[in-house]
Amino acid sequence: MNKEIVVSGIRPTGFLHLGNYFGAMRNYVKMQDDYPCYFFVADYHSLTTHPNPQDLKKNVFRVVAENIACGLDPEKIALYAQSDVPEIPELYLLLNMLAYKGELEKVPTFKDKVRQQPENVNAGLLTYPVLMSADILIHRAQKVPVGKDQVQHVEMTRNFAQRFNNRYGAFFPEPHPFNFGSEPVKVPSLDGNGKMSKSENINATIYLADDDDTIRKKMKKAKTDMAPTEPNSTMTEAVENLFQLMRLVSDEQTVATFLKNYNDCSIRYGDMKQQLAEDMVTFIKPIREQAQALQEDEQAIRTILKNGAEKARESAAKTLAEARKLVGIHYY
Ligand code: ADP
Ligand code: TRP
Repeated sequence: MNKEIVVSGIRPTGFLHLGNYFGAMRNYVKMQDDYPCYFFVADYHSLTTHPNPQDLKKNVFRVVAENIACGLDPEKIALYAQSDVPEIPELYLLLNMLAYKGELEKVPTFKDKVRQQPENVNAGLLTYPVLMSADILIHRAQKVPVGKDQVQHVEMTRNFAQRFNNRYGAFFPEPHPFNFGSEPVKVPSLDGNGKMSKSENINATIYLADDDDTIRKKMKKAKTDMAPTEPNSTMTEAVENLFQLMRLVSDEQTVATFLKNYNDCSIRYGDMKQQLAEDMVTFIKPIREQAQALQEDEQAIRTILKNGAEKARESAAKTLAEARKLVGIHYY
């Protein structure tokens, strides 16, 4: 077993989708055999948008069920709710003293939220990257499997870790984003606007809970372009996106065939989207069915969360005790 520690979280803000799977969960599943892993549901992070209290539990339980349906084994890893580990908010408080208003205001995800919800620019939103840093540093993690949209937050975590180390003594390792293969993944939305996401672009996002016909309908509407008129022409973004999705869910032979059709101008995007829809159906169906079955057994999910929190707190308590000491908080 590799010694490097792995941490990652997903917010319970809606149904999980192909972006979450290929950006994050696929890596979780591959890493669980080789590293000590801490994976959690970032319920505190989801409070920045004031979700309905009645919905929160359902959303948290669904994220747990969907993660397990994707192949996570709660026996091998710690799978827990962020709010079950009080050491995280305590470390967050310590890190907040090292995070500056100016740098937090410059974070692109914060600026996006200010544009999207000008009536709710709360302090939790501003300090979102600090809480995320606490999530990671509380286990002194080095590897953070996340999609491309989170890379900057991990960079900030490195900055906060360095600042802590410079001031109080070398303690936190520097974490890095992690993805098997090459670059961090960004799964595009089907309408050509940004990435697939839990709460935006609902009709342009394929969810792990979508039934077969919903997947087919969404794929039918996916954005395409005019067919190429010259051999080997450069792909437009919409077409590139379709190929990107196909590389994720279809086999190599299928991708090669459509690529050849594109390059010799015989491609029909309707056929390509139909093939893509069928490959998505094949991929999602078993995950959807298992996640549904798991969600019916609330007691099992509660037990998983309880055991996960116990494992996470054991590691978190050690880090926090040391961090408090380094800061000078040890009076007795
Ligand atoms: P969302 O943005 O859908 O609300 P989260 O912010 O909770 O999802 O992200 C959970 C994980 O899924 C993160 O690691 C994030 O980078 C990854 N992720 C989310 N959307 C995508 C996407 N379209 N492509 C790749 N990774 C993604
Ligand atoms: N901020 C991440 C997102 O929006 C979720 C998250 C919270 C996270 N804490 C984390 C991811 C720690 C990795 C590590 O997707």
